Amino acid sequence: MRLLFFYVFFVGLKPSLATNILGNETDVIALLRFKESISNDPYGVLSSWNASSHFCNWHGITCSIKHQRVQQLSLQQCQLHGTISPYIGNLSFLRTLNLASNSFYGEIPGR
Ligand SMILES: *[C@@H]1O[C@H](CO)[C@@H](O)[C@H](O)[C@H]1NC(C)=O
Ligand SMILES: *[C@@H]1O[C@H](CO)[C@@H](O)[C@H](O)[C@H]1NC(C)=O
Ligand SMILES: *[C@@H]1O[C@H](CO)[C@@H](O)[C@H](O)[C@H]1NC(C)=O
Repeated sequence: MRLLFFYVFFVGLKPSLATNILGNETDVIALLRFKESISNDPYGVLSSWNASSHFCNWHGITCSIKHQRVQQLSLQQCQLHGTISPYIGNLSFLRTLNLASNSFYGEIPGR
C-alpha cells in the first residue's frame, strides 16, 4: 500500500516536472536543428538560442502559456540565410511561422 502510494506519487509526478522545468524536448531539438541549418545570421539574432535560458525566452519565439510549447516563430527581416530544417515540422503546437524577408532556399517542410 505504501509502496503503491510512492510509486504513483513519484512516477506520476515525473512527466509534468520534466515538462515544466526542461520544456518539451521535441521543441528544443527542433529549434536547435533549425538554428543549425542557418548558415548566416549577420545580426546574431539566434545567439540567444542557447542553453542559458528556456526556449520560450529565445528571440522570435512565442510559447503557448498553458503548454509552454512553441506557438509562434517570428524572425522576419533578420537577413538569415540557409535552409529551413524539416525538424520545424516537429513543432506540433506551431501556429504562426513568419520568416519574411530572409533568404531561405529549398522547400518549406510539411508536417
Ligand atoms: C513533447 O511533445 C511531443 C509531441 O507533441 C510528445 O510526444 C512528447 O511526449 C512531449 N514531451 C514532453 C516531455 O512533454
Ligand atoms: C546566450 O543567450 C543569452 C540571452 O539569453 C545571451 O545574453 C548570451 O550572450 C548567449 N550566449 C552565447 C554564447 O551566445
Ligand atoms: C523530427 O523530425 C525529423 C525530420 O523531419 C525526424 O527525423 C525526427 O524523428 C523527428 N522527431 C523528433 C522527436 O525529433
